Amino acid sequence: MKFFIDTANLNDIREAQDLGVLDGVTTNPSLMAKEGITGKEGVFRHYKAICDIVDGDVSAEVIATTFDEMVREGEELAEIDDKIVVKVPMIREGIKAINYFSEKGIKTNCTLVFSAGQALLAAKAGATYVSPFVGRLDDVSVDGVALIEQIVTIYRNYGYATQVLAASIRHPMHIIQCAELGADVMTGPLSAITALFNHPLTDIGLAKFLADHKKAGTK
Ligand code: E4P
Repeated sequence: MKFFIDTANLNDIREAQDLGVLDGVTTNPSLMAKEGITGKEGVFRHYKAICDIVDGDVSAEVIATTFDEMVREGEELAEIDDKIVVKVPMIREGIKAINYFSEKGIKTNCTLVFSAGQALLAAKAGATYVSPFVGRLDDVSVDGVALIEQIVTIYRNYGYATQVLAASIRHPMHIIQCAELGADVMTGPLSAITALFNHPLTDIGLAKFLADHKKAGTK
């Protein structure tokens, strides 16, 4: 399973990269705004800064919502760095744009996916990644992990190359459940990734090993 971090915060990206388990980054307009990144120049510079830190794919989302504008914006984003994946919303114009990018060999991430039917359209259009939002479905009392299972099953049935990117991951159990189901990638905040480290028996066990070692050394 590939681990992507879902943030535009350079410190969090550096920290995840330093752990040695990071495979990529996803961003969205809200995450960019949270970091105070504004204006085309500023946004493009920030994407370049992210690409310079991470060794893997970096999703950069288009703001445009019409085919022509998405194509223009996506092509410009793709020019920033080879690592850029053009993130396109799951709307009619978006599916057309994904099809266009796919024919041009530009990587895409179909975002804001909340149903298996939408995921099927993304795969047929040739998306590199499809992003079902697990946490946001859970927020409205719909089982987000169940959607991952449905999409993985459908993609396996037909051998679609589109990678299932479990997005809107909120906590370690989401990661484990999506991994059990065979999601190709997960994206979540640094806190969800680092929470995977935690187990009280590890802490207790290490404390005992170190204490025993110290005791033996003093004999
Ligand atoms: C997907 O790539 C989105 O950026 C993201 O995962 C949304 O997550 P949220 O629901 O925590 O905002």
